[in-house]
Amino acid sequence: MTHNDIALLFLHGFPFSPEMWAPQREAFEAQGFRVVAPDLRLETSPATMDEMADKAIAALDAAAGEAAKAVVIGFSMGGYVAFSLLERYGDRVAGLALADTRAEADSEEGKAGRRALAANALEQGPQAAVDAMLHKLLSPKTTDRRPDVRREAERIMLSASPAAIAAAALGMAARQDRTASLGGIRVPTLVIVGEDDAITPPDVAEKMAGAIPGAALRVVPEAGHLSNLERPELFNEALSAWLSKL
Ligand code: MLT
Repeated sequence: MTHNDIALLFLHGFPFSPEMWAPQREAFEAQGFRVVAPDLRLETSPATMDEMADKAIAALDAAAGEAAKAVVIGFSMGGYVAFSLLERYGDRVAGLALADTRAEADSEEGKAGRRALAANALEQGPQAAVDAMLHKLLSPKTTDRRPDVRREAERIMLSASPAAIAAAALGMAARQDRTASLGGIRVPTLVIVGEDDAITPPDVAEKMAGAIPGAALRVVPEAGHLSNLERPELFNEALSAWLSKL
């Protein structure tokens, strides 16, 4: 199999866009992979994980054909979407990389936080999401040493419409708990997590990887939740090494 036979379907996080995958697009296209990174933002509320998975599959169909299989790389909310995609389009999935994400649904407190964020975003715009989230997204090391990464994360977050932020927040609040289905995952799986991830911490990733048969776990040093943007070279190396064994 050549790299051209494998599509990489990158699913972005919240409240981000496909722009968050820029370092991965560049590196993996240079290696000959077909990179598909759809925009999962939807303005009809709630935007469910199933609707986002439908949008992702439509993008894969358009880019690589309706029979194409992909390795699905889901970051955070994109991981929640990947679980839906695996359940509903399992025959299209050749492998699964779950980055800085979790299988559990939101707690009641978490759901209340989503509702508050949705209301604030509709009232105040995307700055409400930046205020609520940016400080938790990055490792303190990144905040200290890489102001450019912080600026880029903020820029992408501010590009989301208030309606899309609200719709995704409410869609995530309504998502299923996937813990019980982890043991049934039958595709090669890689779990990646930033060592300083404060949103989906390494112990959550470790537990998830332990529940998926044969899953590999890679911890990205000196990275927080946004591991792919904070340490792109290490993130890409982890993904590349795993892909080479598929
Ligand atoms: C994300 O990065 O996609 C979000 O932090 C996910 C979440 O809020 O659960």
